[in-house]
Amino acid sequence: MCRQLAVGLQLETRNWKLVTVPFAYILGIESSCDETAAAVVRSGEQVISNVVASQIAMHQPYGGVVPELASREHLRAIVPVVRQALAEAKQTYSSVDAIAVTQGPGLAGALMVGISYAKALAFALDKPLIAVNHLEGHIHAVLLEGRQKGIHELQFPVLALVVSGGHTHLYLAEQKADGWTYENVGHTRDDAAGEAFDKVAKLLGLGYPGGPIIDRLAPQGDPRAMKFPPAQIKHRDRRDGAQGRAEPDADRPDADRPHKDPPRFDFSYSGIKTAVLRYVEAQDMRAAVERRRNSLASIAKPTLEDYLAHCDTQTLNLVASFQRSIVEDLAGRTLAAARAFDVATLFVTGGVAANSELRRTFERDAAAEGLPVYFPSRRLSTDNAAMIAAAAYPKFLSKDFAPMDFSAEAGMRL
Ligand code: KG4
Ligand code: ZN
Repeated sequence: MCRQLAVGLQLETRNWKLVTVPFAYILGIESSCDETAAAVVRSGEQVISNVVASQIAMHQPYGGVVPELASREHLRAIVPVVRQALAEAKQTYSSVDAIAVTQGPGLAGALMVGISYAKALAFALDKPLIAVNHLEGHIHAVLLEGRQKGIHELQFPVLALVVSGGHTHLYLAEQKADGWTYENVGHTRDDAAGEAFDKVAKLLGLGYPGGPIIDRLAPQGDPRAMKFPPAQIKHRDRRDGAQGRAEPDADRPDADRPHKDPPRFDFSYSGIKTAVLRYVEAQDMRAAVERRRNSLASIAKPTLEDYLAHCDTQTLNLVASFQRSIVEDLAGRTLAAARAFDVATLFVTGGVAANSELRRTFERDAAAEGLPVYFPSRRLSTDNAAMIAAAAYPKFLSKDFAPMDFSAEAGMRL
């Protein structure tokens, strides 16, 4: 099992230190959405292999992920992807110390493929099985790379923004003796930020997934050309019971609130998507959008030049203004939460954390407040299994293993 030494996590009031490093090889498996991924990570801090088989090309014609197709593709890819991850890590099925797999949130059918395969491996090989929350995985992608760069000290509390195609969540994270604890202090009331990127790209005929395309096109437009007012969230979130509190005034987050009812910092991105749609209609851009959609669909892998050749100045300005609004809103609300909770460190992670303008804005605004901000590399921002294996490591140390009958949780919370 755990091949060497023991590990000690030394807790101080606001710092932690990894004092002894064991060598435990965890095989991580991730299949929550449209990426079949497997990775081997040593002791939660060294990525030995990281294989991601993307289904983007398959879902592209539909402008989004088709759940049934995703499950089938995971079934086809899971065995070769895991084999490749083991081979690249120079490991075998029997040499790894544990198998970790994403339990949720995600598409139920897609999750089941990874879970069934992980269970079969753990059962046949008599290895511990570890169930990981995908959102915790995104947070551990930051830690993993921090440790890889030799950063072994972290100031707490940490505020983590997980911003992806399915989530825009803010967590206050602490490290306790037996693992991490998370308190959700904000989430999107409707569309996730990545979803807004994808939907706007689709309605402009730019293809899927929208985030990376808009990221590359935005610098070519004027981000001040159009103004999208930030979402106002004044009502309680009825979906969320006790968690649902009205959003505070961003500048006076705890005004008139008893301390036991901490402020919330929720997001909303469906309004901006509708505003873009209205703009397209009001400006008679529909026909041009359809021409662009058809032309780009006929190019196997459009380059930046291909996109630019199909976008006029008005479209580029729209793309740039949309991105700027989303980025400013994400950074503004997150930093307001950081002030309200007096956090010591900021994490920004998830697919949208790959966005160049988002990184620049967070770096600039966090620096202005003297707050250290950490992102995963672009490769570990989007879905991968290294983050799952890394998040499993504290659970491996505390022997927090999953029973063989655990199931996928499509709406799993952190
Ligand atoms: O974390 P992820 O791979 O999957 C989910 O857990 O959802 O995130 C995928 C999302 C998609 O919405 C994609 O458009 C967005 O992340 N994304 C980006 C960028 N790269 C990926 N959004 C903005 N800029 C990017 N560079
Ligand atoms: Zn994700």
